[in-house]
Amino acid sequence: MRALVTGGSGFVGRHLCRRLLAGGYEVVCVDPIVPYTGGIHPSNWPLFSPNDNARFQFVQQDCREYFQNTNEQFDYVFHLAAIVGGRLMIENDPLGVATDLAIDASLWNWVTKVRPGKVVYFSSSAAYPVRFQRKEAFQLLIEDMITFSEDIGMPDLTYGWSKLTGEYLARLAYEKYEIRSVVYRPFSGYGEDQDLSYPFPAICQRIIDDKGKDEVFVWGTGQQMRDFIYIEDCVTGILDTIDRIDNADAVNLSTGLLTSFRELASTAANIFGYDPRIVGLSEKPEGVFARGGDTKKQRDLGFQATTSLKTGIQRCLDYFLTDGHRG
Ligand SMILES: NC(=O)c1ccc[n+]([C@@H]2O[C@H](COP(=O)([O-])OP(=O)(O)OC[C@H]3O[C@@H](n4cnc5c(N)ncnc54)[C@H](O)[C@@H]3O)[C@@H](O)[C@H]2O)c1
Repeated sequence: MRALVTGGSGFVGRHLCRRLLAGGYEVVCVDPIVPYTGGIHPSNWPLFSPNDNARFQFVQQDCREYFQNTNEQFDYVFHLAAIVGGRLMIENDPLGVATDLAIDASLWNWVTKVRPGKVVYFSSSAAYPVRFQRKEAFQLLIEDMITFSEDIGMPDLTYGWSKLTGEYLARLAYEKYEIRSVVYRPFSGYGEDQDLSYPFPAICQRIIDDKGKDEVFVWGTGQQMRDFIYIEDCVTGILDTIDRIDNADAVNLSTGLLTSFRELASTAANIFGYDPRIVGLSEKPEGVFARGGDTKKQRDLGFQATTSLKTGIQRCLDYFLTDGHRG
């Protein structure tokens, strides 16, 4: 089996490539390593070295150029390439993030020509209407809250818009060109080697750095809640369900559990042996109030995330304490 992974040098991509290689796939990873993203050159991946595997090929190139110059056949195309960044990037450089519209348009045009076995499109929980994520009235987000047949609710900034458009293009590619695909909407994926511009590793790192202090800061009010899912669970969710959907239908990758930034920081501090007061940094953005994903559809398809938040925190703390770059 041959897999193309665009944006494969990023956080999700590194975990996905490892699992695909372990599963016997030939993996072509296309990634120019865009500055200020989570991209890392494969010679420096923190958790494993893909270059040791003869079935791994790295092409350091923008996938838009790659699409123009290749007609290679793949069983699966995992499309992760995107300008994501953390909350600061999404709020402060909305037009930079809109580059994702161009990246996704190139993908869908290319696949109609080369017709791979299956396209796996990485959307995001940011595609959901923000009206379901407000403090006054929030609920777990269900896949059917996005339909392309009725009114579309306002998603989260240009990042959400580009993912929503990518999902719509997936649908058109299936209906008009019979391109088989599945769409995933990951919630807040986290893991040991995630870039520190994301809240989970940033909070774990701060808990280590501030050990013994009376107060530890988190962004925004700290009351904002997210659905944190361990990255290896995300990858398991994909590999377990990938062949169950062909018609561009979307599936959440979530735990269904909401955790506030305050709870995350205080749980991490308790695990690390102290009990500070958690204080919000109001000048920093906090995004929507509550973003959690319903899990029924994942469960019906045979997947359930299993890593508890405490286990995930412990793994991140252990990693930061033992890893030379960050500890
Ligand atoms: N991490 C999460 O929890 C999460 C949640 C929701 C959605 N997603 C989606 O999953 C995908 C991967 O996210 P991530 O967290 O690994 O981000 P990341 O920033 O770590 O990785 C993105 C990668 O895409 C690469 N890239 C950017 N433009 C490219 C281009 N034109 N051609 C090829 N590669 C390009 C970057 O160099 C980087 O390596 C994205 O599509 C993202 O929207 C991730």
